[in-house]
Amino acid sequence: MSSTSSHSYPMSSGEDQHSYIHNSSYQKAAIKGVEERIKQAILEKLDLQLNSNLISTFTIADFGCSIGPNTFHVVQSIIDTVKFKHLKENNETNIVPLEFQVFFNDQSNNDFNTLFRTQPLSSESQYFLAGVPGSFYGRLLPRNIIHIGHTSYTIHWLSEVPEHVCDRKSPAWNKNYIHCNNLIEEVTKAYKVQFKKDMEVFLQARAEELVHGGLMIVVGNCLPDGVSMYETWQGHVMETIGDCLLDMAKSGIMSEEKIELFNFPVYFPQFSELKLMIEENGSFMIEMMETISHPFEDKRLSNEFITSMFRAFLTTVIEQHFGNGVVDELFSRLSEKLSKHPIDFEMWKTQVVYHVVLKRK
Ligand SMILES: C[S@@+](CC[C@H](N)C(=O)[O-])C[C@H]1O[C@@H](n2cnc3c(N)ncnc32)[C@H](O)[C@@H]1O
Repeated sequence: MSSTSSHSYPMSSGEDQHSYIHNSSYQKAAIKGVEERIKQAILEKLDLQLNSNLISTFTIADFGCSIGPNTFHVVQSIIDTVKFKHLKENNETNIVPLEFQVFFNDQSNNDFNTLFRTQPLSSESQYFLAGVPGSFYGRLLPRNIIHIGHTSYTIHWLSEVPEHVCDRKSPAWNKNYIHCNNLIEEVTKAYKVQFKKDMEVFLQARAEELVHGGLMIVVGNCLPDGVSMYETWQGHVMETIGDCLLDMAKSGIMSEEKIELFNFPVYFPQFSELKLMIEENGSFMIEMMETISHPFEDKRLSNEFITSMFRAFLTTVIEQHFGNGVVDELFSRLSEKLSKHPIDFEMWKTQVVYHVVLKRK
């Protein structure tokens, strides 16, 4: 059983220079930045009787795994930590080793072939694996089977663009903007409503799939409290992509009407907004919810890096709306604009990395 109610925009597929595999080091750095805290939470908060031999198969799911390599890193780190905890809590010498079952979930048009082809194989990292295609905005797995669920850099992807933001007659019309930059209150409200709806569905589905005492780990970028998207360098890049699209319309490559009908189904909440939404869902206890600065924040990210990163995660959604063949032109314009007007990281605010560990009540 899987839900397909959500629109689907997987990351760039394959293993070429533009693929997510080669352009996901920003996400990887964040994952590594919070790894120790998450390991600690697993050691302290995972509340399963691993030492009673009641669990012989430990089940992990990564929701929105994409095509690697980050998902493999995350899964291995969770397995190593659980194995360590299992050994530590068992003084017996003849302890039965745990077996691990890992479910890799993403949308059905995700490039699962590349994911499975590039899975690192080593005798130490053995686990049973299965792909689970479908939207995580709905049930994907049977009730009560997951011991640790994980998702990173996913839940800012909404199941759909909020109604009315592309409707000229609506107060929530987002004009020529292509994302939720928080400049128009009604637009922000519409995105927020959609995000809340999606989060409720996500958490409800995971609550059913997780065993009691199991953990759900969520990692991603959010806005610090009091900061709007338009104040951040990430927001500035999105605006610049919008400007490039308008330039392309002026050159006759696409129509302005087509741009007016386009908005990214992406929403970055502020930290306390996210916290409130999680608290409102009564199925989980918040065991840890913190932010760190992104580890690359003190580096000057190059224009090439930024262009490639945004290209890898926005290509599918752009192609689905504007058709094949615009992406090369769009991102070469973005690169040119960023070279002419380099991002002054001192001037812009920035998103932060949140990490949440929830325990199923
Ligand atoms: C930026 S990638 C993150 C990949 C990986 N978790 C990481 O941290 O590198 C976002 C992934 O979420 C997936 N995704 C977005 N919406 C989804 C949904 N409704 N159901 C399942 N996967 C979804 C996308 O297809 C994409 O592979």
